[in-house]
Amino acid sequence: MQRVIPKLLTWYSENYRQLPWRETQNPYHIWVSEIILQQTRVDQGLSYYFRFLDKFPEIHDLAQGEEAEILKVWQGLGYYARARNMQKAAKLILSQFNGDFPTNYTEILQLPGVGSYTAAAIASFAYKIPVAAIDGNVKRVISRFLGIQTPIDKMAFMKDTQHYLNEQIPRIEPDIFNQAMIELGALVCTPTQPKCVACPLLDECFAARESKQNLYPVVAKKQKATDWEINYALIEKDGEILLNKRESKGIWGGLHEFPQLSEKNPPKQEEKITEYEHKLSHKNIKARLFKVDSDNYLSQENQEVVWVKMENINFFPMHKLMLKFVEYLGWK
Ligand code: ADE
Ligand code: SF4
Repeated sequence: MQRVIPKLLTWYSENYRQLPWRETQNPYHIWVSEIILQQTRVDQGLSYYFRFLDKFPEIHDLAQGEEAEILKVWQGLGYYARARNMQKAAKLILSQFNGDFPTNYTEILQLPGVGSYTAAAIASFAYKIPVAAIDGNVKRVISRFLGIQTPIDKMAFMKDTQHYLNEQIPRIEPDIFNQAMIELGALVCTPTQPKCVACPLLDECFAARESKQNLYPVVAKKQKATDWEINYALIEKDGEILLNKRESKGIWGGLHEFPQLSEKNPPKQEEKITEYEHKLSHKNIKARLFKVDSDNYLSQENQEVVWVKMENINFFPMHKLMLKFVEYLGWK
């Protein structure tokens, strides 16, 4: 792609969005932005970015933060293991790197929760190391540009693409090349209806030449989502409600929710308050909320319950499904 790279860079300089993480070379700030942007779009990510850095301005603030505080800032983004991994990484930076963010690709890659994309983004944006940052946007661009038949979710796709782009990436300002590829995928080579006439890669693009843009990227068949039914109990006593803190491992680890009903406390239809359907990447959840009399509720093993005043419920980190119920009840 050497011939179109100058066009790509010119296109970027004329069309890029000014974003706060593009105005900094601070690796900590860049890392925070990249982890957030794995979870959400740029427009929503901005407020999370500012709040995160406001709450944890330095690596040691994150390392020393309360887990609940971190989850609270993360609330609504989903995939909370990411937030907990960030704290693990911050602690590791304090213990192994003297509090200074690691400065080479291999060391950055060893941080918990940091994969090859994030490591490359940090290494190139903060230190101008010429390694290609390949996120979903870049995968789409390159699969169309080269007409790659290997499905994008296969290891071989990533391996081949990393190899190819690591050879193509300019040694001078590799950061701009990476930003440009990400931006091109976000603004021009979009999932549907790519704007090829405005694309700096058009002259050499395989998919555009063959009018096969919508055949790329090739994706392998997805595994089907499984169904999951959850019955929650709203248990109230003297203005307080019962919350359960989920175990730290697994889905929604460390987050609070209403206690779930088990065989001990089967739900009664007539006491149902409301229900929601909620989709996660591999689960279709049907969740119901029942009113349960506190005198009738039998406590269950493996639960870490607390009584919480209704007006304090929002101090506890909760997952999105739980927030739907809290909003329904008018407490948010
Ligand atoms: N998505 C992921 N990284 C990004 C970045 N640096 N700028 C814009 N969007 C992004
Ligand atoms: Fe994507 Fe079209 Fe550009 Fe090819 S020419 S990279 S398909 S926007």
